[in-house]
Amino acid sequence: MAVIYIIIYSLYGHIKTLAEEIKKGIEASGTGSTATIYQVPETLPAEVITKMHGVKFDLPIIDASELKNADGFLFGLPTRFGNVPAQIKAFFDSTGGEWVSGALKEKFAGTFFSTGSQHGGQETTAFTSITWFVHQGITYVPLGYTPELQDNTELVGGGPWEKNVARTQGDRFAKIVSAYVKGNSFFKATAAYATTSTTNDNTRTQPTENTTNTNTNTATNNNTSNSASNIVAKCLVLLWKF
Ligand SMILES: Cc1cc2nc3c(=O)[nH]c(=O)nc-3n(C[C@H](O)[C@H](O)[C@H](O)COP(=O)(O)O)c2cc1C
Repeated sequence: MAVIYIIIYSLYGHIKTLAEEIKKGIEASGTGSTATIYQVPETLPAEVITKMHGVKFDLPIIDASELKNADGFLFGLPTRFGNVPAQIKAFFDSTGGEWVSGALKEKFAGTFFSTGSQHGGQETTAFTSITWFVHQGITYVPLGYTPELQDNTELVGGGPWEKNVARTQGDRFAKIVSAYVKGNSFFKATAAYATTSTTNDNTRTQPTENTTNTNTNTATNNNTSNSASNIVAKCLVLLWKF
């Protein structure tokens, strides 16, 4: 039901692996949501990437103008000195047009991480990304402490995020965004029905110039109450369809 973009920067593949698990979680969520993995444009010269032993991945590159087509975003953030990578920051900085037009308000975002050392700045990385969500009017959806994150029986690399957690995050994010998308379209449809219904009823019940006829007033009252019950009935029909 929800359209979700997983937007990442990955130099060594850890974030890409997590993104693929998150995609599986979204697709298995039972919400009918779709997930597409994108990468942000690279800002480093190819020779620098080679010297860093980095890898180039064959993923579509996201453009800021495409963000409006999604209901939610999950950003894959490999920590750089406790912060988001410059590539992600450059992408955020390319969304001035979306910020001015308000194109991203009423959308949702979450974040996932990879660090070289145990929890090496994952929370500060989350923290430094949040200002972008706030400016855009995007609702931040944290994963929260799931049972998987509280399992300390095994050392899982640079932080608590591992494949199982990633699938849980995809599932949870898809359910939350889908609930909003579904509820919002229902709300808009019923509001449209209510407007149409009220307009029609007003046309039907406009008292004539000759208001001395008491029957007209009675009819108006009946129609008003009919209109209220009509709206309720139409809402129930819509609810049934959804
Ligand atoms: C310039 C630079 C800065 C980094 N800063 C941190 C850091 O502050 N804390 C940490 O634990 N790891 C740090 N790392 C390690 C990366 O976070 C880690 O290699 C990366 O998350 C792996 O993700 P990837 O395989 O998807 O590229 C840094 C790596 C680079 C290249």
